[in-house]
Amino acid sequence: MRTKAVLGILESTPRINHSKPPMHHYETKKFVLPSLKGISEKQITEHLKLYEGYVKHVNKISEQVKEWLAEDEEKYSYPISELWRRLSFEFNGMRSHEYYFNALEGGAAAFDPESPLGKALVAQYGSYENWAKVFTRVAKTRGSGWTMLYYDRHSDDKPFIVGWIDEHHIGYLSSLPLVLALDCWEHAYMVDYTPGERGKYISAYLNNINWEVVEQNFQNAQS
Ligand SMILES: [Fe+2]
Repeated sequence: MRTKAVLGILESTPRINHSKPPMHHYETKKFVLPSLKGISEKQITEHLKLYEGYVKHVNKISEQVKEWLAEDEEKYSYPISELWRRLSFEFNGMRSHEYYFNALEGGAAAFDPESPLGKALVAQYGSYENWAKVFTRVAKTRGSGWTMLYYDRHSDDKPFIVGWIDEHHIGYLSSLPLVLALDCWEHAYMVDYTPGERGKYISAYLNNINWEVVEQNFQNAQS
């Protein structure tokens, strides 16, 4: 019964089948990135390797849990639970990086205050500059983590929330889809900047954003 209950969470189908991984196998996404201003190719290359590590470890958790379940579920009960607890760290690390790199694809495209996203952001913050100040302030939070622009469809007048996440998973706002994700771990900028220069890195990232991609994220967040 316990095996059935655990696998019920992991599999989309209730049928138990140890020949299949207990979770979807994730593939590393390939990003076509242009030359960026203020973020070097070496920085991006090293960063992409870390991203690949998160994809690898999401799959690794799935495979290890499957192995333990098949071998001796009772014996591995505690490590299975503890490893599964780590899924949010690895999964969010994977998915957040995909939003991060995706927003740089296609080259910088300026924020458009007349687009649906532009109008909504300006309606809430007054201007792009005001929003950027809020976003930058949060992105300077001490520690390693992420600055997220969320969209809360349950809020009529102020649907955007800028939030901080410790590591990849601590402080994630439940159910809110991402519009923009800024990696604020030191590994995201220390090839180009010192730890005390996070502000320069934040500016560089904002200046390289393809806002057409972010616009699409906004549309997806509303659907
Ligand atoms: Fe990162």
